[in-house]
Amino acid sequence: MPDNRARYVATVIQAFILGAVTYYGVKWLMDAMDPTKKNRLAAQKQAQKLLKKIGIEGVKLSEYELTVAADIVDPLILPITWKDIGGLQETIEEIKESVIFPIQQRDIFKNSSLLSAPKGVLLHGPPGCGKTMIAKATAKEAGCRFINLQVSSLTDKWYGESQKLAAAVFSLAVKLQPCIIFIDEIDSFLRMRDKSDHEATAMMKAQFMSLWDGLMTDSTSQVIVMGATNRPQDVDKAILRRMPCSFRVGLPDAEQRKDILKIILKKEKLKDDVDYDELALLTEGYSGSGLKEICRVAAMSCVRDYVKQKNDPQSSDSVRNENGQPHLRPIKMGDLLVAIEKCKPSATLQS
Ligand SMILES: Nc1ncnc2c1ncn2[C@@H]1O[C@H](COP(=O)(O)OP(=O)(O)OP(=O)(O)O)[C@@H](O)[C@H]1O
Ligand SMILES: [Mg+2]
Repeated sequence: MPDNRARYVATVIQAFILGAVTYYGVKWLMDAMDPTKKNRLAAQKQAQKLLKKIGIEGVKLSEYELTVAADIVDPLILPITWKDIGGLQETIEEIKESVIFPIQQRDIFKNSSLLSAPKGVLLHGPPGCGKTMIAKATAKEAGCRFINLQVSSLTDKWYGESQKLAAAVFSLAVKLQPCIIFIDEIDSFLRMRDKSDHEATAMMKAQFMSLWDGLMTDSTSQVIVMGATNRPQDVDKAILRRMPCSFRVGLPDAEQRKDILKIILKKEKLKDDVDYDELALLTEGYSGSGLKEICRVAAMSCVRDYVKQKNDPQSSDSVRNENGQPHLRPIKMGDLLVAIEKCKPSATLQS
């Protein structure tokens, strides 16, 4: 009898050990097969730190929400304000009125089903004209939390995970509200659906839209999806419908170019001969980033002269000022004119 009992106990122990070995073996195998796990854990750790920094404590987040939380940007460290954006005063005023005001003055809009912050805002126009800048400045000026959604953080090779991540985007945004979910280059993520879409991708897009609809019907929610694209014609029509509030950020005209150049050059040392009106006339067809490139090339010529002078033993000019700092000469009109010749406008894409 005791023999039987001992055998019984031994079998139970054996079964237990076998079970444990199988469990940990399979778990190890799954981890080994999932190369993204390490990155995911690192992102979650980073997200927890970030949440603490922006004062979100005591909010319980799921594993998926933490993964998305790695894309949160602290509005305090967002470097762009309205003052940094040149020539888009009209667009900025409209955004202030239709997006920021309803977020900040919630009480006025509380009881109206017609008057509330739009749930979708689209910024479109040629590349390099300030769409991303506007989105960042909007979050900063509205004092919103800002999720700079990286589409890559939604893709997961495990079936069904992407959908859980898409759901987490919205549930996280609701926990953080007021919040802007910003999707740059939205055409690449929510482009026209077609038959060649992978089933999982198609399902994620459909789910994204239905979650968004949930936001739209909830008049108390303070979550806005903001998208930017330079190919609005490629964005799914159903998505465009969800973004009735759309702003075109086009190529700047002469007056706008003058404004942008002034902003880009405001901290630089300039010679008196720099004529903004003439520069604005000579830069027809340039985008904001094209203008920045001109200024960068012009500033580089000062550096080139500095290096030349430093390496020239015959030069009598000092290359350092009285504080021992490198002394760069101011940017001249000539530098800017040469730079305009060098950098041809690249923003020819019209949308
Ligand atoms: N209106 C502007 N005022 C000041 N700087 C500008 C303006 N537009 C563009 N720039 C400069 O060009 C850079 C690129 O701008 P931004 O990233 O906002 O362009 P974008 O419209 O989002 O382009 P893309 O479609 O390629 O993403 C900015 O970092 C800024 O230096
Ligand atoms: Mg952009």
